[in-house]
Amino acid sequence: MREQVLTWLAEHVPATRIDHILRVEEMAIELASLHNIDSEKTASAALMHDLAKYFSPKRLLQMARADGLEIDEVLESNPHLLHADVGAIVARETFGVNDKEILQAIANHTLGRPGMSRLCCIVFLADSLEPARGETKELQVLREVSYSNLERAMWLTCDRTVQYLLERRCTIHPRVITTRNWFLSKSKSK
Ligand SMILES: [Fe+2]
Ligand SMILES: [Fe+2]
Repeated sequence: MREQVLTWLAEHVPATRIDHILRVEEMAIELASLHNIDSEKTASAALMHDLAKYFSPKRLLQMARADGLEIDEVLESNPHLLHADVGAIVARETFGVNDKEILQAIANHTLGRPGMSRLCCIVFLADSLEPARGETKELQVLREVSYSNLERAMWLTCDRTVQYLLERRCTIHPRVITTRNWFLSKSKSK
């Protein structure tokens, strides 16, 4: 299946994006083994997380609607955010993936979701923190936190995303905030 996905990716995604996907896969496997999560499932989700990254806004909206996804105002005006949900549809329809956790990890890799599984957290974090995202002190700290505490790494990474979007005056999807709040309160209740 890995070869099949890589062949598909070579036709639908530029080489630089494939390099990112492979780095996400590598980091996700590393995090999975550190946190005792099924590394095979995690690797599959990581490999397929950006399947729909280069789909046109029109195609993303069409596929999401056809699958019955709820499209709110923010998604409507920023269809690119749907590449995560649509990636899960492609994984299911093109590669026959039926494992709910793998599909959820793909669907939630951009906005997260309150209560999402540790496997989902790993794909989310590997996507944001893979080595080529940069070598700033902040990213290095976040990577270290992800090795030891997934919940803490989740809300800190959401904080970073929100800060980034605020600085650039970009729209923020409310689910980033609800994800952040959920993992913050989970960390505090421990
Ligand atoms: Fe993505
Ligand atoms: Fe990605």
